[in-house]
Amino acid sequence: MKFEKEIEDIKIAIFDKLKHSSTTEEIETIRAQYLGRKGIITQKLKNIKNRSKEERPVYGKIMNALRVTIEKAFEKKNKETTKTKRTKDFFDYTIPGDKKWLGHHHPLMKTMTEIIDIFVKMGFAIEYGPDVETDYYNFEALNFPKDHPSRDTQDTFYLNNNLLLRTQTSPVQVRVMESRKPPVRIISPGRCYRVDSFDASHSPVFHQIEGLYVDTNVTLSDLTGTLDIFFKALYGPSTKIKLTPHFFPFTEPSAELQVSCPFCEENGCTTCGHTGWIEVMGCGMVHPNVFKSVGYDTNIYTGFAFGMGVERICMLKYGIHDLRLLFGNDLRFIRQF
Ligand code: DAH
Repeated sequence: MKFEKEIEDIKIAIFDKLKHSSTTEEIETIRAQYLGRKGIITQKLKNIKNRSKEERPVYGKIMNALRVTIEKAFEKKNKETTKTKRTKDFFDYTIPGDKKWLGHHHPLMKTMTEIIDIFVKMGFAIEYGPDVETDYYNFEALNFPKDHPSRDTQDTFYLNNNLLLRTQTSPVQVRVMESRKPPVRIISPGRCYRVDSFDASHSPVFHQIEGLYVDTNVTLSDLTGTLDIFFKALYGPSTKIKLTPHFFPFTEPSAELQVSCPFCEENGCTTCGHTGWIEVMGCGMVHPNVFKSVGYDTNIYTGFAFGMGVERICMLKYGIHDLRLLFGNDLRFIRQF
């Protein structure tokens, strides 16, 4: 009959709208539009009396069947919607959380900070110098004449005849003294470079921390007292230090400083080569020639200086036996610190 197509169109329209609805509010609006008091289907059922006598039973039957089908569809869609809403909003507070890995400082930087903190507490200021240095600051002003054999142990990368990658942090001593009058009490951390093959105890790039104290009446016992306090703070209160005569062009007298082995307390182990002592830095009283090159009066001022390799100090602190691990960027190693 002619109304069958009309009814089929209504059905298709309702299913299509339902398909594109996603909230209970949207579903309710569609329901009101078709099945509410003034809804399309409700109205059509009300107007059944206007139909011819023959049409009425068939029309009523089909319309009622449509209403039942549609009611069911609404019910189903409603159930689905509330279920997905619940799944979306559900959060199980009893499931253990994802552990986020927080980054932290590299062991070398941790060591550097620790060393700096100790000296800052003793009243030392922090100064920095350039990695690319002139021959003058890296060697000449530090009493390394051009043909001096002590330059041999500090071969480096030359950018030209005059510019080079600094081999030590000692040039910062000269730069600082040139820029101000005593008293000077500074430390200078930074990167240094040398022509060295990369092995368990050498790297062409490494870190040093330099120290300098200049004033009237600074003596060798100020040097030993300061460094004794420093190593006790770094490696523990039972740590001892020992100075052995050595040569550095920019200090006179010069010494190599050894600490009692933090691993065996002087009983001897593989780390200290069974001697009970480990060499950790160079130090001494500032050479008069260095004072002359910066214009300090050698009759008034004296001073001490020291320089240590951060890698060495770090390896001893954490019991690391191969320097290459510090530069390998292997997170399994780094995460242990
Ligand atoms: N610059 C020296 C080196 O790299 C270490 C050093 C020794 C620094 C004695 C000093 C010092 O300030 O007094 O081998």
